[in-house]
Amino acid sequence: MRSNLITKWPDKAANRAMLRAVGYKTNDFLKYQIGIASTWSNITPCNNHINILSKAVEYSVNKYCKGTIFNTITVSDGISNGNLGMKYSLLSREIISSSIETVCNAQNFDSIISIGGCDKNIPGCILGMCKVNLPSIFIYGGTILPGKNRTDIVSVFESLGKYYSNKINEKQLLNIEKDSIIGSGSCSGMYTANSMAIAAEIIGISLPNTSLQNAQSINKILNCLNVGKIIFNLLKNNIKINDIINYNSILNALKVISLLGGSTNCILHLLSIANCLNINLTLKDIKKITNNLPTISDLKPSGVYFISDLINCGGIQKFLKFLLEINLLNGDCLTVTGKTLKENLYNVKNNYINKILKNINFPLKKTNQIKILFGNLSINGCVSKISGKEGEVFYGKSKIFNSEEESIEYIYKNKIFKNTIIVIRFEGPKGGPGMREMLTPTSALIGIGVKKDIALITDGRFSGGSHGFVVGHISPEAYDKGEISILKNNDIIMIDTINNNIILFINEKNIIYRKKFFINYSKISFGILNLYRNNVLDSSLGSSFKY
Ligand code: FES
Repeated sequence: MRSNLITKWPDKAANRAMLRAVGYKTNDFLKYQIGIASTWSNITPCNNHINILSKAVEYSVNKYCKGTIFNTITVSDGISNGNLGMKYSLLSREIISSSIETVCNAQNFDSIISIGGCDKNIPGCILGMCKVNLPSIFIYGGTILPGKNRTDIVSVFESLGKYYSNKINEKQLLNIEKDSIIGSGSCSGMYTANSMAIAAEIIGISLPNTSLQNAQSINKILNCLNVGKIIFNLLKNNIKINDIINYNSILNALKVISLLGGSTNCILHLLSIANCLNINLTLKDIKKITNNLPTISDLKPSGVYFISDLINCGGIQKFLKFLLEINLLNGDCLTVTGKTLKENLYNVKNNYINKILKNINFPLKKTNQIKILFGNLSINGCVSKISGKEGEVFYGKSKIFNSEEESIEYIYKNKIFKNTIIVIRFEGPKGGPGMREMLTPTSALIGIGVKKDIALITDGRFSGGSHGFVVGHISPEAYDKGEISILKNNDIIMIDTINNNIILFINEKNIIYRKKFFINYSKISFGILNLYRNNVLDSSLGSSFKY
C-alpha cells in the first residue's frame, strides 16, 4: 500500500502519533487510506451541503478502508459573474486540482474520492484526481430545485436586462431575487455543473445514474453511502483513473453533452482533462463530433425544462442505452464499477423519449448548438453556441469593447442596432486574465429582447447559462495579438456555423498592417492572476496551467 509510507514500520511512529491525535485507531493503520476531497463551503448554495455528503462518504468508506476528509477552496460562478471576481473562476479549477494533488501526495493516500458541486470545482476535482492517478471516484453534489414560478439564477441575471429596459420595476426585480434560488445544489439547468457531472458519469468516474440527482435527496445520500465498496474494489483491482478515462470515453461524454445542449465550458474542461492524461484530443476532433449531431433536449438555458424535470422523467440511462444501440457510444469503456459502460447498461431499456428528450430522428434542432469554428478571425479555433432559432449564419458589423464592463455599460444605456456583432476582447486566459464568463452581457441582451438580432463574440468564455448567437474562446486571444485584437468598429464579420467558419472581411495585407498598431488593453494583474497569465495554456488547449 502506498500509504505504508506513513502508517507502517516502527520508524513511522511520529506519523502515526499525529494521525492518532485526529482520531485514528491502531487498526486503521492496516487499512487502505482514502482521501475524501470535499468542496464544502458556505459561500454558495452549490456546495452548501457537501459537508453532509462527505460525512456519508466517510461512513461508507470506513466499513472497508480508512477515510480522511480534507477541504479544497471553491469559487461561485453565480456570485463572481459580472464582476472582477470572475477572473478567479477558471483559475480556481487549477487551485482546486493542485490542492487535491498536494494533499493526496503529501498524505500518501491510496485513493481519492472527490465531491464537487459547482462549475469549476467539478473539473477541478477530476483534474486533481487525474494528476495523482490513483483509484478514484467522483461524486456530484446534485442539482438545486427550481425556485418560485420556475425561476433560477439565470432568471435573475435576465431580469436585470428587463429592469434596465423598464420592462419590470425594482419591486419585481427584488421578488425574483428573493424567490429564485431556494435550498442547496448546483444551478438547475443544463449549465456547466450539470453538464460536467453528466460528463463525469459518462467518462466512467462516477457511479451510474448519479449525475442526475437532486442535491437534497435520499438518492444523493445513497450515492455517497454506496462508494465504500466500490473504492475498495478499485483498490483491490488496482484500477486507476487513467485506466478509465481515455480518448473514447471523452468522446462519449462530448457526444452526450452536445446532444443535450450542454455548456461550452465542457470543451475547455475536457480538453484539459485529456491534456492532463496525455490523451491527444483537439478542437478538430470535437468539431467532427458536434458537426454530425442534432440537439434533442429541451433543457434550459435555451429550453424550458430543468434538470430536476429530467430526473422526474427518469434521467438519462435509457437515453444512453439507446445511443449505445445505435452505435453512437463506445460501450467498451471501463467505469468505476469495474464493468464497462455497456455492461452497466445491460438491464436498462432504450425507450427514452419524453417531453424533454426528443426522438433523435425528429430533433429539436437538426444541427448541434455547439459548433467549433476556424477562420482568419480565429486560426486556433473557437467555440460557438447557437441555441435557438437565430439561424445558422450571422453577418454583421462589429462593435468593439475592450472589457466586459465596457460592454455592459453600453448595452444597458444604448440602443443596439440589428446585425451588430458585439466584440468583447482582452478577456482571454491571459488578457483578462482569467477568461471571464460573459453571462451578464448575454443575459442583458436577452432581457432587453434583442437576442435574435445580435451576435456576441469574445476571447473570454460563457456561462452554461448563456444563450443566443454567441462565440467564445476565440484563439489566439487579443493579448497574444490574435486577429480579434485588430478589429475596429464596423468591420464586417461572418459567423457561419454550417461551414464552421468565422471570417473577418479584410484582406491579409490589411490584417498585417493593422497588427503593427497593436495596443494592449488588458488590465494590470497581480498575485495569482499574474501567475495564471504567465503560465496558462491557450484556450484551444483548455486554459490550464502549463505544468
Ligand atoms: Fe455553482 Fe452555478 S454557481 S453551479
